[in-house]
Amino acid sequence: MSHPATIARTEPVDLVVRGGTVVNADWQGAADVLVDGGKVLGVVEPGAYRAAQAPGTTEIDATGRLVLPGGVDPHCHVGFTSGDFTSLDDYRQATTAAVFGGTTTIVDFAIPRPGENPADVAAAQRAKADHGLCDSALHACVVEWDDTVPEQLRALADDGIVTVKMFTTYRGETMADEKTVLNVMTTLRDLGGMVVIHCEADHIITDTQERGAAAGTISACHHADTRPELAETASVAEILAIAESVAAPVYFVHQSTPEAVDLVARARGRGVRAFTETVAHHLVLDDSAYAGPHPERFVCCPPLRDADTVAGLRSRVLMGQVATIGSDHCCYDTAQKESVRHDVRAMPNGLPGVETRMPVIFSELVVKGGLSAGRFVEVMCANPAKLNGLYPRKGVIAPGSDADLVLWDPTLTRVVDSSALHMATDYTPYEGLTVTGWPETVVVGGRPVVTAGRLTDPNSQGRHLRSDPLSRSFVC
Ligand code: URP
Ligand code: ZN
Ligand code: ZN
Repeated sequence: MSHPATIARTEPVDLVVRGGTVVNADWQGAADVLVDGGKVLGVVEPGAYRAAQAPGTTEIDATGRLVLPGGVDPHCHVGFTSGDFTSLDDYRQATTAAVFGGTTTIVDFAIPRPGENPADVAAAQRAKADHGLCDSALHACVVEWDDTVPEQLRALADDGIVTVKMFTTYRGETMADEKTVLNVMTTLRDLGGMVVIHCEADHIITDTQERGAAAGTISACHHADTRPELAETASVAEILAIAESVAAPVYFVHQSTPEAVDLVARARGRGVRAFTETVAHHLVLDDSAYAGPHPERFVCCPPLRDADTVAGLRSRVLMGQVATIGSDHCCYDTAQKESVRHDVRAMPNGLPGVETRMPVIFSELVVKGGLSAGRFVEVMCANPAKLNGLYPRKGVIAPGSDADLVLWDPTLTRVVDSSALHMATDYTPYEGLTVTGWPETVVVGGRPVVTAGRLTDPNSQGRHLRSDPLSRSFVC
């Protein structure tokens, strides 16, 4: 989209968002947004639509606000079981928190436990989508290859699930071997799908952890030392080689180091369809958190890195080498985290963050860091939609797209306080951080669900989104 249309419509529409600055990835400017039947009908010159002639039209004044496409969180675990722990939210809770934070689409994971079948697990998770306040899509997950997997992947693709998470760590739980990764990549390549992969070389981590355990340095405060950067680098290099060899696309989740991002960028330079996701906590927090009073609250994989690595990762975002920024939301609480803090090998990994992703990244990278508002929308909304086969339905404000809109106050400054958030946990890793830029009003499918910071439409109307084959949307 380049410019707002000048053609005015005078028949009634359901909603007009008037007087704001519309921000898409590729265009921003003063415009009014017309919404009808849950879809964007038009982006028009300010004042072109005359609501006085249209009784029944709801009008929202967006003066002084940015009007953003609803955020698309490409990496959000809901009610996720790993080891002995299950994260504490359900679809309603996770999507309520998402919407309060300006995210109107989440992409969750259907991760099989040992012995479970990927397609069955995906079907069970997909059935929960209608409990959400906003829409959701799913990544499936394959751990082991057998003769049934190609048919399962075909059935999943027919059902609109075209991305498959794989892991090179967590042996005995979700780790897949290299041949399984290769087979899944090849199968998905031909189905218009893509592997989305967690890369940390398990053998290096296991060895480092065993040495830590022998030396008595295996508790939460030692977490970063037990999962070194070189484990991520080594694994990314291996997976890139597989993708290049079979000419398959690949998306690296939660890359935490500039070296890993650079490997992917170099591969892209050779024509490999390889993409980097980073997540908010790796761009905002650093490993000094492990020296604080509650190191367990920051245990995630990959771990938080040192301040130089964080600065390098941020620079990769500014240089345009990062396609998406997710949350990697895992809603554990402090009791779960504390219960096994003496041994990181048993800990529930992951941090709550679906609600804070948009405000924290806006504040740290746009307000303080030099990222443009358009690039913010690109990495938080448009690219996550493209790389999940959801674009242009999601991730852009354009005629025909879903009317998921965020009226964003770019000057509102708040100190993050877990008790004011909506996630189903009792803490946030950003407690006490001063954040400038928050969503004020959030429209989901044409309905103002949050208005001036209050829940105004509690009805669950979430839908499971069928992703398109990705070959049609690889444009970022
Ligand atoms: O620590 C993390 N990231 N936990 C969630 C599962 C995963 O690996 O993404
Ligand atoms: Zn992961
Ligand atoms: Zn994750």
